[in-house]
Amino acid sequence: LPPLKVAVAGCGVVGGGVLARLLNDPRYDVVGVLVRNPKKVRDVACPQSLFTADPAVLWAKKPDIVLEALSEGEAGHAVIRAALEAGCDVASANKQAVSRDPGGLQDLAKAKGRRIFWSASVGGGSPMIETVRAARAAGEVVGFEAVLNGTVNFMLERLGDGAAFAEALADARAAGFAEEDPSADLEGLDAAAKVRLLCHEAFGRSPDGEVPRDCLTEATSAEGGVRQIGAAHLKDGVITPSVKLTAGHGDPLFSSLRGEGNALKVYGADGRVWRCRGRGAGRWATTESIMADLAEIVRARRADAGLN
Ligand code: HSE
Repeated sequence: LPPLKVAVAGCGVVGGGVLARLLNDPRYDVVGVLVRNPKKVRDVACPQSLFTADPAVLWAKKPDIVLEALSEGEAGHAVIRAALEAGCDVASANKQAVSRDPGGLQDLAKAKGRRIFWSASVGGGSPMIETVRAARAAGEVVGFEAVLNGTVNFMLERLGDGAAFAEALADARAAGFAEEDPSADLEGLDAAAKVRLLCHEAFGRSPDGEVPRDCLTEATSAEGGVRQIGAAHLKDGVITPSVKLTAGHGDPLFSSLRGEGNALKVYGADGRVWRCRGRGAGRWATTESIMADLAEIVRARRADAGLN
């Protein structure tokens, strides 16, 4: 195959990592990078001419694949839909975008004969989407519990070590764990989007309405051993989702998590339990997850072309 034409949307913590990997890989021809400000100086060695703020410029380059890592949900969702409409395969790390209407995006991809992957949008480098899919393939899933936000977990550890709240947050931002607007982490919006997406994977649909959320503040973090747990349970056809700050969670899978660690437990109707854990945030952990989705897309395209 000739090099695949790849467009990247977003050049922040994750988009920048993905771009760096692509620019060093002769299998890919990066045709454009969608950003808010094309003139901004960035931490990735990329020809300035590739940056554009205009999605129409990307589509004019006719990419085969779009890797979407914008931070904003609505804009990301629009880019993903436009990419599928234009006949591109898509991998997204943007939980706010893909959790809006995951079924609709999958239907659109199917109608266009394309593929959409979002492994990087939950759990960073840990295979949470894959774990839920494996559980569902084995039988009915009735619930899950998870630590889904690396920033909050990292901050809780730092606070436990005596750091001030503002200092712990600044460290999480400096490490590249926090969202561009970190209130999404602190107010549980990031974890809530991940819960919605995991519900789609676990139960085939997202919960109705908002996911109730606890906010991380100096007061809520004061008690020792606090964990932010995102969960959902299915009973009598009703999904009950939540993002809660829980003190003294008994399961070592969660209580032993350090730093930006994320972990997941999935409950099957037959009593089986699936678990996974890993690095839940940060440039390289999340970049590897989106690169794994890209490899999946390439394998599928090769098979379509009769090359495997
Ligand atoms: N801000 C997110 C977190 C990034 O801290 O978990 C990974 O989704």
